[in-house]
Amino acid sequence: MPQSKKKPMLKKAAAPAKKVAPKKSAAPASKAAPKKEEVKIPAKKQFQLVRGMKDVLPRDQWYWKAMYDKSQQLAIDYGFDRIETPVLEEAALFMRSVGKQSDIVEKEMYVFEDRDQEKVALRPEATASVVRAYLQHGMWNQPQPVKLWYWGPMFRHERPQSGRQRQFTQVGFEIIGDASPVIDAQIIQMAYLFYTELKIPVNVQINSIGMPEDRTRYKMELVQFYRSHRGEICETCKVRLMKNPMRVLDCKEPQCQPIKTAAPQIVDYLSNESRDHFMKVLEYLDELNVPYFLDHTLVRGLDYYTKTVFEIVTTDGEQGSQTALCGGGRYDLLVEEMGGKPVPACGTAPGLERALIQLRERQIDVPGAPAPQVYVAQLGDLSRRKAMLLFTRLRAEGILADQDFCKNSLKSQLESANGKKIPFAMVIGQKEVQEGTVIIRDMDSGVQETVDFNKAPQILKRKLGLDSAAV
Ligand code: HAM
Repeated sequence: MPQSKKKPMLKKAAAPAKKVAPKKSAAPASKAAPKKEEVKIPAKKQFQLVRGMKDVLPRDQWYWKAMYDKSQQLAIDYGFDRIETPVLEEAALFMRSVGKQSDIVEKEMYVFEDRDQEKVALRPEATASVVRAYLQHGMWNQPQPVKLWYWGPMFRHERPQSGRQRQFTQVGFEIIGDASPVIDAQIIQMAYLFYTELKIPVNVQINSIGMPEDRTRYKMELVQFYRSHRGEICETCKVRLMKNPMRVLDCKEPQCQPIKTAAPQIVDYLSNESRDHFMKVLEYLDELNVPYFLDHTLVRGLDYYTKTVFEIVTTDGEQGSQTALCGGGRYDLLVEEMGGKPVPACGTAPGLERALIQLRERQIDVPGAPAPQVYVAQLGDLSRRKAMLLFTRLRAEGILADQDFCKNSLKSQLESANGKKIPFAMVIGQKEVQEGTVIIRDMDSGVQETVDFNKAPQILKRKLGLDSAAV
């Protein structure tokens, strides 16, 4: 029958009784399932992290929480809504936005074909994803500007070193739908406050790279200038000069530094409109007491920027170094470039692993785990049951209790409470179980009081000064 011939191959292959090999001609060559490569896993292999990846261990969790809380607070204070976009996007999204010839796309992006032969990428940054979401969900219909913030992992296949990983985390703030220099200043201020309120001393490096028309004239002058110094510049600069001339200004090679210093400066090629915009941004920053340094070599490695670009470095960091803590700028053409109407935008993304290094190295205090208010100790199985119940009731009353219900010795339990400087212990032994009582011990003075089991949480609350009206 003709229909039976059309049965999907999968069904034939899945039938347990007779396995019929699919006819070669039945599937077009391009759709043929890729041959599975066998992965050999040695017996008892002790697995290690993939190069460039990092575990976030318990010792760092309070730092992460402090950074998250600060980001969230800034987002709330400045009126941002949270957005989460997927880690996996169409690879072309970043080719179009970040730029085909950028280092990120050309050398660092994790690109692969998935099982449907779609070319996908692990996002190397999220501005492009946020713009995609802005367009895909018709956010241009909402009151403008739309302010979005995000937090999440990014992926770049770079050479790992301190502060440079292949999976790293960014928090980002993007304002889409307003061309005013106020927006640039606010974005820079937010990034600045993120660090300074976490007690990390930083500098803002700022520049304007104008609009493409400004850059066309500038690039011609720059290329001409560098050509006249061709013999003195490094090989990378020679390549950049042909592919992406403004990136020569990023060069860190000592031999190129004198040429870079003497090179023409973009500010001299800005249109009146771009120059006025930049001056206004600087004036607002002055007004807001956000200190900045003008850096005419700051061009950023992503293609979508227009006008204002900036980076934030530590006060002891090299000017314009690769170890920027944060980067950002205006991207007035990106929304249109990605298929929307012309909509101006501006944003920033602090990198969190680099902020974490600063917090750790500078031994900056961040709020840690709240200290337990009471230790619940027990002696033997019967009292353990009561102690577990007491712990549950204390928790329900909002009292933070500590315990080691797996321990049997009262001495070691009280030592544990002492070691952690917990002000009170509640002890339940055989006698207390029979009498329906609990001993409350002041760990400093050693003074003990026996109280009714059911009233114990309220009595403790009073001792802790939490509930003076009770009891
Ligand atoms: P970006 O300068 O490529 O800009 O990255 C921002 C920050 O992410 C860097 O300053 C750094 O702290 C961190 N970062 C970048 N690569 C790595 C890495 N391999 N390891 C650790 N941290 C890293 C952007 O991504 C733009 N999307 C920023 C932006 C938002 N522009 C406008 N809106």
